[in-house]
Amino acid sequence: MQGVARNFFVLAIIYALCGMALGLQMAISQDHTEMPVHAHALVAGWLTSAVFAFFYHLFPAAGQTRLANIHFWLTAVSGAGLMVTLYLLLAGKTAIEPLVGMFSILFYAGMLLFAVIAWPVIRKT
Ligand code: HEM
Ligand code: HEM
Repeated sequence: MQGVARNFFVLAIIYALCGMALGLQMAISQDHTEMPVHAHALVAGWLTSAVFAFFYHLFPAAGQTRLANIHFWLTAVSGAGLMVTLYLLLAGKTAIEPLVGMFSILFYAGMLLFAVIAWPVIRKT
């Protein structure tokens, strides 16, 4: 695994370790307040990043473009920002809500960019 595929897989593993640690903390403390952060870190983080990693691994030409690099950094930065700000929001820091919204929109923009990158691959195969 190389390049963008490798970056996404490293990101996926970081999400899995952080998300599962939060799940354990929730289960042990019996405080499920942060459940949406746990759910999104694992499903939108670990699983989605792993899907992106395998996509770029299977279609290496798609991963060798500038757009694919932008896709990685946009997804990584907005996703991490979303997890941290959502955690703080659920912990009671309500003033941070606009940032949660901003990172959510950027995370969605990452998925839109992926649609643009994946479209030629879908058409050719
Ligand atoms: C160390 C392993 C894990 C522990 C201790 C754990 C613990 C928990 C706990 C305590 C909840 C809250 C349940 C509730 O409040 O109803 C939860 C919810 C959830 N977990 Fe985990 N979890 C683990 C791994 C995973 C993994 C690997 C995934 C996905 C790949 C995952 C996905 C979810 C999702 C999507 C929810 C939300 C379910 C809902 O909407 O009701 N969890 N988990
Ligand atoms: C722009 C990005 C996203 C936003 C703003 C968003 C927002 C939300 C909201 C508001 C909820 C309801 C939470 C609650 O009732 O407590 C939710 C739940 C959920 N979302 Fe997302 N979501 C996003 C992306 C995703 C993605 C990409 C996935 C999976 C690949 C996902 C999986 C889930 C799951 C499994 C739940 C149920 C668990 C929970 O209640 O936390 N979400 N999401």
